[in-house]
Amino acid sequence: MAQFFLFDHPLIQHKISMLRDKNTSTKEFRELVHEISMLMAYEVTRDLPLTDKEIETPVAKTTAKVLAGKKVALVPILRAGLGMVDGMLSIIPNAKVGHIGLYRDPNTLKPVEYYCKLPEDITDREVIVLDPMLATGGSSSAAIQFLKDRGIKSIKFVCLISAPEGIERLQNDHPDVPVFCAAKDERLNDHAYIIPGLGDAGDRLFGTN
Ligand code: PRP
Ligand code: URA
Repeated sequence: MAQFFLFDHPLIQHKISMLRDKNTSTKEFRELVHEISMLMAYEVTRDLPLTDKEIETPVAKTTAKVLAGKKVALVPILRAGLGMVDGMLSIIPNAKVGHIGLYRDPNTLKPVEYYCKLPEDITDREVIVLDPMLATGGSSSAAIQFLKDRGIKSIKFVCLISAPEGIERLQNDHPDVPVFCAAKDERLNDHAYIIPGLGDAGDRLFGTN
């Protein structure tokens, strides 16, 4: 069974509630996605390995902990995953960024791939896949499979809002991929939208309809 991390930090919960509000403007929505992603990055990177380094403070020599240099790549699922990139980069500024373009066909609800560009050395990196919404799980599961087919072994998935159906799907399809999520909602509606959710994340982020 895949690891599942639900964030209960009050700052994150408060910002998620503001995100859900239909009166939140596009500008505010973007800022909130940025801030929540930044806060989540802190926990998502908790297991990055450390190594010892000899350093000298102004008063003594000491052995100090520094990051072991484990390389990270962020892979947002277009479009909505783009909104999470800068917040994550503000905590892990050396990460490379790849892009996977998927949209959910409104009739079949199945993901359709339309773009992919990944860093050349991505198989050496710990990959963090970003998408604010985990609804049926079709898009995230397909994106993760796509990365695995290219030889990537270490993958985490980070989303803002999830439905139980999507969590179950991801855990079944990819039990090796830990899922980090800021809110677990009640269910999907007949159009596979998350209830209560926040509506269409891409549209709210980019001001489209
Ligand atoms: C949204 C969202 C996810 C997907 C989630 O993208 O950003 O990628 O739906 O649904 P699923 O779990 O049922 O696959 P959408 O297809 O609306 O594309 P967009 O980001 O371009 O708006
Ligand atoms: N994609 C979204 O943007 N919102 C949902 O509720 C479901 C899928």
